[in-house]
Amino acid sequence: MGPAAILLRLSVALSDLAYAGIFYHLLLAGLAHVAIRKPSGALPAMVGLALLATSFVTQNAAREVPSPYVHVAIFRHILVDGTDEIEIAYTFKRSLWGQGLASETAAALTSIGLSQLELPSLIGLAFVGNGASRRVLEKSNYVLEKSTTHHGEDVVIYRARR
Ligand SMILES: CC(C)(COP(=O)(O)OP(=O)(O)OC[C@H]1O[C@@H](n2cnc3c(N)ncnc32)[C@H](O)[C@@H]1OP(=O)(O)O)[C@@H](O)C(=O)NCCC(=O)NCCS
Repeated sequence: MGPAAILLRLSVALSDLAYAGIFYHLLLAGLAHVAIRKPSGALPAMVGLALLATSFVTQNAAREVPSPYVHVAIFRHILVDGTDEIEIAYTFKRSLWGQGLASETAAALTSIGLSQLELPSLIGLAFVGNGASRRVLEKSNYVLEKSTTHHGEDVVIYRARR
């Protein structure tokens, strides 16, 4: 059921619960072999943990709203009204909000994307009511381009050009 909960992407919380369950299962399986002094028996569990970590990172990067248990700052391809765009996206643990981390991150991603990678433009996508996210984009000189829907949610698209 764990992999199904992850792959169906029903909710981030359910997916995180599945990851946690699989993580502890594999950890206990590996440690049990170490405890009985047969560490080679822990190899499948270690491989499983490596695959689980890879899955967590790739699944999380693909989500609209990433897991709150990790800090993420990425560029990603995203289809907006049928057009392939490159979006900057980030998320931080709630306890770290309000300290300027997102503003610093948005500025750094924008500089890397436009100056170093020489992309013609980048977009930022925010839920209409996400004032903090919108403010962060505006502070990095993103200009409001349009309102649209994305996966059924009302969002606004901001753009920064080279
Ligand atoms: C949105 C998010 C990234 C902001 O992170 P943060 O580190 O708290 O942001 P910062 O501290 O750099 O800046 C927040 C800005 O928004 C302002 N702000 C906060 N709440 C606001 C609101 N409700 N309306 C308008 N502005 C608001 C802050 O005053 C600050 O602006 P200022 O520097 O001019 O004072 C964070 O809330 C988060 O991780 N949310 C979940 C994921 C997400 O929404 N990601 C963004 C879409 S990719």
